[in-house]
Amino acid sequence: MQITVVGTGYVGLVTGTCLADLGNRVLCVDVDPAKIALLERGEVPIYEPGLKELIQDNVAAGRLAFTTDVAAGVAFGEIQFIAVGTPAAADGSADLSQVLQAARNIGRHMTDFKVVVNKSTVPIGTGEQVAGILREEIAQRGVTASFAVVSNPEFLKEGAAIADFMRPDRIVLGADDTPEGQRALALMRRLYAPFNRHHERTRVMDVKSAEFTKYAANAMLATRISFMNELANLADRVGADIESVRQGIGSDPRIGYSFLYAGTGYGGSCFPKDVQALAHTARSHGQKLRVLEAVESVNDEQKSVIARKVFERYGERLEGRTFALWGLAFKPNTDDMREAPSRGVIAALARAGARIRAHDPVAMEQARAALAEDFRAEPALLQRVEFVRHPMDAVKDADALVIVTEWKAYRSPNFGLIKAAMREPLIFDGRNLYEPQDMQQAGFTYVGIGRGTRASTE
Ligand code: UDX
Repeated sequence: MQITVVGTGYVGLVTGTCLADLGNRVLCVDVDPAKIALLERGEVPIYEPGLKELIQDNVAAGRLAFTTDVAAGVAFGEIQFIAVGTPAAADGSADLSQVLQAARNIGRHMTDFKVVVNKSTVPIGTGEQVAGILREEIAQRGVTASFAVVSNPEFLKEGAAIADFMRPDRIVLGADDTPEGQRALALMRRLYAPFNRHHERTRVMDVKSAEFTKYAANAMLATRISFMNELANLADRVGADIESVRQGIGSDPRIGYSFLYAGTGYGGSCFPKDVQALAHTARSHGQKLRVLEAVESVNDEQKSVIARKVFERYGERLEGRTFALWGLAFKPNTDDMREAPSRGVIAALARAGARIRAHDPVAMEQARAALAEDFRAEPALLQRVEFVRHPMDAVKDADALVIVTEWKAYRSPNFGLIKAAMREPLIFDGRNLYEPQDMQQAGFTYVGIGRGTRASTE
């Protein structure tokens, strides 16, 4: 099949590349000439394991190409995926300008039947808005061209995006019960047929329910995380271990093990934005989603849990102290710094006068840029942060080691060497990577999240 993907961000690139790898011909369109030039040189603007190679293979096989030419993009694909950004506006609502512009461009240039697929996470009702724009543009040109708008939300996780795309749990398709909608659905089913060989993974529903499904999934997962974080904070107070509790409840199939890890709060490009957007949608319909609003405020507080534990230990002035910090990206296997908890930790420690020596296996460049942004009004704080090439360079003469992201490389370090290098053997572990007992045996004071261990009661 011939497919056009509008937007070469995270979702667009992964979608386009994977669909090409399945044997389709895919043209990816972006308005940013620098990005397209980069992709044409075989380089990739984001870090995602396996993506670069997959792009290069499919470009070489003639199945994948890139362009800034909007009209060529519209002419190319019978199916037009819209996979552009929907950043949060100041009031928490999703900013739809890029989605609506993409729809306008399709409407302006289309001459025959098009399936317009919303892949971006868009508020409930956006499908109708997109259809309205297409109708308007087509009417203005006085041509007759039919179309159907399909909602096909994406559930891929950064760092595992290709595997998630190629082995989906489910494929959600929202379409209207009209002849065009059914024609579109038939095409979409053909496109996704390779995923349905063993059993049917497609869930067909109306457009609004499909849009809702994406938000409901992310809101549910974010809720589990915030709830576990609250329980972890209580476990610290009562002296219980949240890791044992997690396993104790996860074994109940009604609960399950995933997304029950307490930590430093959720970050990234999806959960924070989608939780806000769904709460906003509800408010604009006269309903307050009380649970979800609590999920968000618990998460905001959880992002400073490590700093609170550090202050509990040393007081709020940290002049003369140096902290090693492992992990900058919002989660492992990505260089994404959006809403990364490390940013808040660094800001709090630096403002209190500490020096920070930070390491991340891939996100250091992005972290530098993110911190420059965060400290724009107080650039002197940047001088307190040093980026080091090796995790061991960070711990040298450090008062404590702070772990913010659970990269594999940090899971089994040489504790003997770390202890010898540090001023004091103290670890604040925001991701519960180690067992408190093992750490005690290794001679460390160990402060996890909800492990019933507190730095001030060593
Ligand atoms: C998420 C959804 O999982 C995905 O389906 C959707 O398409 C986009 O949003 P992503 O943001 O890439 O994916 O990361 P994910 O692995 O879901 O983690 C999100 C955040 O939650 C991270 O900050 C992570 O550290 C945190 N998290 C996750 C926890 O704190 N505890 C957990 O148990 C799981």
